[in-house]
Amino acid sequence: MTGIDEIYLPELNPFEPERYALIDLDAVESNVRHIKSLIGDRSLIAIIKADAYGHGAPQIARAALAAGADMLGLVHAAEAIELRDWGIDAPMIAWLHTPHTDFMRAILRDIALGASGWDLDAIARAARSVGMRARVHLKLDTGLGRNGSTLEDWPKLVQRALKYQDAGLISVEGIFSHLAVADEPWNAETTVQIARLLEAVRDAEELGLDREKLMVHLANSPATLAASIPSHYGELALEDAVRCGLALYGLSPFYPHHSAEELGLKPAMTVGTFVSAVKEVPAGQGVSYGLRYQTEKPTTLALIPMGYADGVPRVAENAPVRLYPAGAPARTVRVVGRIAMDQMVVDLGEPGLSDPSYGYLGARAVLFGAGEDPAVEEWADAAGTINYEIVTRISSRVERIYTGGSEHSEELLYDPIQDESPIDEEFLAAWSEWHDEEFLAAWSERHQEDNTSDSDTESTPNA
Ligand SMILES: Cc1ncc(COP(=O)(O)O)c(C=O)c1O
Repeated sequence: MTGIDEIYLPELNPFEPERYALIDLDAVESNVRHIKSLIGDRSLIAIIKADAYGHGAPQIARAALAAGADMLGLVHAAEAIELRDWGIDAPMIAWLHTPHTDFMRAILRDIALGASGWDLDAIARAARSVGMRARVHLKLDTGLGRNGSTLEDWPKLVQRALKYQDAGLISVEGIFSHLAVADEPWNAETTVQIARLLEAVRDAEELGLDREKLMVHLANSPATLAASIPSHYGELALEDAVRCGLALYGLSPFYPHHSAEELGLKPAMTVGTFVSAVKEVPAGQGVSYGLRYQTEKPTTLALIPMGYADGVPRVAENAPVRLYPAGAPARTVRVVGRIAMDQMVVDLGEPGLSDPSYGYLGARAVLFGAGEDPAVEEWADAAGTINYEIVTRISSRVERIYTGGSEHSEELLYDPIQDESPIDEEFLAAWSEWHDEEFLAAWSERHQEDNTSDSDTESTPNA
């Protein structure tokens, strides 16, 4: 006898994560196969930027490639370089750059680069510095108003690209653009954007680019899925490749008009934790910061140990949580009061449920997932946002657990390659000088010198 009152303890299990995002790689593979079945012999560029929308880029890359994706799309060159460090050697493209982008390393690691304007010149200079041709996809702004050349500047961009290509610095491998309203498939702006891109491709061909060698791509998930239901949304040109992100993760860009299931997609992410406290409270109990919720009658409250530090939106009051108590049927309850940094509260709706026989303490609590779990869109609605944001913002404090996947058994090994791209003073000087003609003339002169004499004056790191 210890003299200490016995207290009810739920089953303890320190061996499993307390907060988890379960990623179903079988679902990802099934989604990839579904997209492939919709696009015929076109290529699928699997968009795995932003750590694969929160799902984990290396694992999603492997699953997507295993299921037939042809290329990987990342927004930053640094994201693509990191994936190379994870041993992923598939074709990759990255398209959003700053003067701080490490173009040299990207070229050395065989990453294709989108180019919209100034970045084309930076890429060419980096290519010269490392002594390798850069793979380039030229980007046109067909109406979204973000990156991409303007329609007006397009011929100049193509002409510059042709010069760099002739000088042996780049290979133009693609032309692409991004859609503004594809998630509103009834909106005619999408057909306008497609027409602009196709015209720009014809112009590029007239200026000298070889259409046969170009991958032309524009469609994202909504455009790809809409094109697969022409009875609803008419014919959409998908050209040579589609760039799908959201659909890989099994989420619908058309919610609430079409659910993921209707579109043949399976949600891949389930986010959950375990109830950390259950308590009886009287009527009039305020809940969480600001006391924005007050119980109307005696009830039982359960504490869910996740909050905005875990990426759960603070504003999502009234969002659903599915509880799986050991001694009572599973049920969906609502978040009450403010979501805090680390926790939130759900109201179980009646008193007496703290009794251990119900098993609420320690019960699995699922915020969103597939099947009977709340849909991520319910969280998006509660937070006034979209499903893209809810999955992407789940923070690193939430452990990712992977299930399924045909390549899953192979260990992913992070193995960064060091010192491949030393700062090249000559490159930086050339870049800041910024004189196209001078740069090209100097390059061709060197190129000729290199070809005629065997002198080794060009500095090519790692050559
Ligand atoms: C240029 C580009 N292409 C494709 C995508 C993928 O879009 P979605 O997730 O709607 O398929 C994105 C995502 O924002 C993007 O920025």
